[in-house]
Amino acid sequence: MSEAYDSAWRASIDNPAAFWGEAAQAIDWFTPPAATWDDAEGWYAGGTLNTAWNCLDRHVAAGRGDALALCYDSPVTDVVQQFTYAQLLEETGRVAAMLTRLGVGKGDRVIIYMPMIPQTVFAMLACARLGAVHSVVFGGFAPLELAKRIDDAQPKVLLTASCGIEGARTIAYKPMVDEALELARHAVHDIVVFQRDRLPADLGDTRDHDWEMLRAATAADPVPECVPVAAADPLYILYTSGTTGTPKGVVRENGGHAVALAWSMANIYGIGAGDPFWAASDVGWVVGHSYIVYAPLLVGATTVLFEGKPIGTPDPGTFWRVMTRHRVKTFFTAPTAIRAVRKEDPDATFLKEIGTGDCRAIFLAGERADPDTIAWLEEKSGLPVIDHWWQTELGWPAIASCFALGDLRRRRGSAGFPVPGFEFAILGEDGQPVPAGESGAVTIKAPLPPGAFRTLWNNQAGFDKNFTTFPGYYETGDAGHFDADGFLNIMGRTDDIINVAGHRLSTGQMEQIVAAQDGVAECAVIGADDPIKAMVPVAFVVARAGAGSEADLAGRVIAAVRHELGAVAALKTAYVVPQLPKTRSGKILRNLLRTIVNGGAYTTPPTIEDPAVPALIEAAVRP
Ligand code: COA
Ligand code: AMP
Repeated sequence: MSEAYDSAWRASIDNPAAFWGEAAQAIDWFTPPAATWDDAEGWYAGGTLNTAWNCLDRHVAAGRGDALALCYDSPVTDVVQQFTYAQLLEETGRVAAMLTRLGVGKGDRVIIYMPMIPQTVFAMLACARLGAVHSVVFGGFAPLELAKRIDDAQPKVLLTASCGIEGARTIAYKPMVDEALELARHAVHDIVVFQRDRLPADLGDTRDHDWEMLRAATAADPVPECVPVAAADPLYILYTSGTTGTPKGVVRENGGHAVALAWSMANIYGIGAGDPFWAASDVGWVVGHSYIVYAPLLVGATTVLFEGKPIGTPDPGTFWRVMTRHRVKTFFTAPTAIRAVRKEDPDATFLKEIGTGDCRAIFLAGERADPDTIAWLEEKSGLPVIDHWWQTELGWPAIASCFALGDLRRRRGSAGFPVPGFEFAILGEDGQPVPAGESGAVTIKAPLPPGAFRTLWNNQAGFDKNFTTFPGYYETGDAGHFDADGFLNIMGRTDDIINVAGHRLSTGQMEQIVAAQDGVAECAVIGADDPIKAMVPVAFVVARAGAGSEADLAGRVIAAVRHELGAVAALKTAYVVPQLPKTRSGKILRNLLRTIVNGGAYTTPPTIEDPAVPALIEAAVRP
């Protein structure tokens, strides 16, 4: 029991206006909000601010220009580079000047398709400075996915780099951007390419600009001032997998986001000015947006930008090396990364040799942290390992043990307790709360706290849908339960979203791609258990007559998903089967497929149309 946590949570629920009004004082406002909450305008109505000002300028103005802001650590290029707040402000200002020259202003969208390099951080902050709206697209997505985001966000400018470095492989980004622009209906007139020595790109006509040349050409331009934006104005759009083939553009507002992130650093992670913090994620995901870029800088901390993998760059000691090198106080990663490290170094030889330096706690998120992985990491590191839960839609943790409020209660398998601001209800199909211990739909009472989404880009109806199944509650799409002691356990999704190595993907979207391939009569894609990635997608395909060999069809299906969705989809297995198991009403029995693939004992459901099918599936999976 933690009194500080209990009273903070209670205060946030009993009087959210007072609680979040006080939290807003951590942020510099050009115009202070007229109201903490307004039913029409949301959080901090009437307030104006600039997020980049809060991340950079104000710290420099307060005399902290020499404090470390960003440590870029790239074992894949052997570079370690540090930027003080003054230097990061200078670099951001230069990119803001470049974007201004290209006509980017308040409200314009900018797509950022870039690897984990400092220029990506400059670019995000430069957009924020101008009041422009960035949309960062993860490098593992294929051109078609990038094109979908271009068409939805309609950016004025696209920023990219010549290549990304994925472990031992170098991935050319520019050809993917070119292909995406061919596929997109929306025309982007200016592409800025940061050339990396490893693999420079060929630049084309007047549309393509070399980053450094544009920087030089605008060197004499004044640094644009921080543009005041309304609290509810969008800071960014981040696309995430929904249940259809069309990604959902989660819109993050400037005001609530800044307040919530600053609050979380002080009260969950225990990080303040001057403290080094490291989230080993990618800026293409929400964790990267919130906890690599914005949150650490909002509170004047030092953030680590890591360009590498947990293993193979160069070895499973890389996490501990980076952690100690930058004196990281709080570390954040995904369980899948720890499983990968453990597989390569089961005795934690590297960890023992290198140590964890000044680190006081390790936070995990992105997928359920299995008790075994937590136990291993706690034993080997001697540190508290804290699972916590959140979603792109929410922007910051909603279930956690608030470490910095002195709450160290942990129960392996549970993500912790509701974070102040979040009132959870576990609801049954009838919309009524289920008793403790019973599983139901994980929902959060509306309105959601600051930082959480209040709309989807170009898709208000899609946003509203999250509140229709259980009126007055946001449906998270997860299932779970409270235990008798109030710990919240998240057990999995209720929809077709799967988490593959901490990456959120839609099996429905993969099915659309598979179904469209020549020779496919019907198909199902499910998430199968995986010891490292937690889940991996597996496709079941029924071939049309004359579709060619099974091996050829399976190969084409796998290639199509990689080509259309991207390598990150990690679909490596496709079974060609004579039929799919279905109910008499035609519903595919996906749970049965999942059980068979996982090697579990299954019972043939009484509703099945053809009881002979499960054995046929089993024969295909385990010939
Ligand atoms: N650009 C281009 N390709 C990318 C990419 C990027 N930014 N990120 C991943 N890919 C590619 C990978 O190279 C891989 O390609 P391959 O099939 O040709 O090998 C594929 O996408 C799948 O990548 P991934 O799922 O990351 O698998 P992996 O085997 O390369 O690495 C882990 C496995 C567990 C080490 C890695 O997934 C990991 O570190 N995960 C943690 C993720 C995380 O932190 N998520 C944030 C949530 S908090
Ligand atoms: P994303 O939007 O990519 O952050 O993915 C959000 C989803 O990841 C959630 O809805 C959960 O299904 C899953 N998730 C994230 N963190 C956890 C966690 N700590 N435990 C269980 N599931 C998690």
